[in-house]
Amino acid sequence: MRLDKLLSNMGYGSRKEVRQLLKAGSVRVNTETMKDASAQVDPHQDEVSILGERVLYKEFIYLMLHKPQGVISATEDGRDRTVVDLLDAEDSHFNPFPVGRLDKDTEGLLLLTNDGKLAHHLLSPRKEVPKTYYAHISGFVTEEDVVKFAAGVTLEDGYLTKPGMLKVLKSAEKSEIELTITEGKFHQVKRMFEAVGKRVIYLKRLSMGPLQLDASLPIGEYRELTEEELESLLVLVNKEES
Ligand code: URA
Repeated sequence: MRLDKLLSNMGYGSRKEVRQLLKAGSVRVNTETMKDASAQVDPHQDEVSILGERVLYKEFIYLMLHKPQGVISATEDGRDRTVVDLLDAEDSHFNPFPVGRLDKDTEGLLLLTNDGKLAHHLLSPRKEVPKTYYAHISGFVTEEDVVKFAAGVTLEDGYLTKPGMLKVLKSAEKSEIELTITEGKFHQVKRMFEAVGKRVIYLKRLSMGPLQLDASLPIGEYRELTEEELESLLVLVNKEES
């Protein structure tokens, strides 16, 4: 990989700015000062440093966002703020995108990454990755609903959902539930409750596959996945390949 590309990809400025850094003699590759922007480096082998500070190369970024209400799960939107607008420049320059969508008024766990293979795996309907949601429901959610969800419910367009595991945390005028589903149809949780004559009034995603929303992550904030979290996701992809 070209040296100027590596430095630019790692957030040290545009190619032009990086060339100035090189010209000024600020960049070393292994033990040598390097001024040639087109020099080829192996990001996994060569030690690159800027003014003595080691440049740590990474290709992929994996972020856990506690999505707030009011932002769109997309990389661009003509009108509203998107989840990518919540990221610092040092993270957004990796061009991460949200893995799947949460509605504008849904909160909770959203993974952002630039690892297309992982995203594809997590979103593929064939993989049936479980997603668990916590919700407030207008109306009494009953054991009858639990049984109906377990068999799959028919949405207004005639689609019969895969079984959903519904747990009633509180059955009241405003019920509280947890629902685990293995699909990701548009507005799926809301439409499943509509199918049994009830309405979701608050929705939060708690988990996606092995990844759990970090309870200590404030709404609107994000962090990189820990090594264990990332490993638990990559294991799923690698399992498939072996
Ligand atoms: N189901 C919904 O209805 N909305 C979401 O945001 C996610 C799942």
